[in-house]
Amino acid sequence: MVQIIAIANQKGGVGKTTTAVNLAASLAVLKKRVLLVDMDSQGNATMGSGIQKNDLLYSVTDVLLGEVPIETAISKAEVGYKVLGANRDLAGVELAIAEQEGREFILREALKEIEHAFDYIIVDCAPSLSLITVNALAAVHSVLIPMQCEYYALEGLADLTQTIDRIQQALNPDLHIVGVLRTMYDARNALTRDVSEELEQYFGKKLYDTVIPRNVRLAEAPAHGLPIIYFEKSSKGAVAYLNLAAEMLKKSKVKKGIKA
Ligand SMILES: Nc1ncnc2c1ncn2[C@@H]1O[C@H](COP(=O)(O)OP(=O)(O)OP(=O)(O)O)[C@@H](O)[C@H]1O
Ligand SMILES: [Mg+2]
Repeated sequence: MVQIIAIANQKGGVGKTTTAVNLAASLAVLKKRVLLVDMDSQGNATMGSGIQKNDLLYSVTDVLLGEVPIETAISKAEVGYKVLGANRDLAGVELAIAEQEGREFILREALKEIEHAFDYIIVDCAPSLSLITVNALAAVHSVLIPMQCEYYALEGLADLTQTIDRIQQALNPDLHIVGVLRTMYDARNALTRDVSEELEQYFGKKLYDTVIPRNVRLAEAPAHGLPIIYFEKSSKGAVAYLNLAAEMLKKSKVKKGIKA
């Protein structure tokens, strides 16, 4: 069955989009059928997948406005997975759907039409709790939280888990945290290690063993419209995201009771 996962954290710049793009690419390399949905008007996940956001014939905006069937709006990226892209048009959707009945469930209803064609649907969220992000959180099974191991990460933690609880209670009873990912990790930094320890205590098994190191290649790849694995496959960043995908697959097999 398909797994639909939002990459979310209301804190900006923590590696959500980097994780969405590179996890999608890594799962595709591991032979999974993957759709990446860009729910951020910055369109970074779209561009990072090699798709020009301003040349999109249709985008997630058209789907949320009910103007085209979702299938029509999905593009095939050159990088092994499919993309429901976004650009600045998405910023106007909020107002357009604000008064609509069932406005929180538009993405969920649309995904139902195509979810059978995928093993994983990865939804990249913006760093805010807009109606667009609420649509994302109402449509997914679970949330993957990328976190930078710095002092302020812990401060935002309570807000974030509260948000997920609220959405779970009001809109999506099965919503849960699938995992917490340490990003831009620097093992030499004492604060990183301290915060990392706190995350271990707070999240236990939900904290992925895999950590994503700070790696300049990961920051360079989007400018080339390439996930890291196609940009520099032997880089530490590429290896880390492949390890994350493998860890995810292993955990989901264990959960289903299949021996890994
Ligand atoms: N592991 C890493 N090593 C080095 N640079 C990274 C790493 N992960 C992300 N970056 C860089 O950090 C910046 C923020 O990353 P990213 O865009 O993925 O964060 P985000 O959480 O999606 O941001 P936003 O909240 O604006 O959507 C980008 O310039 C990205 O290239
Ligand atoms: Mg982003």
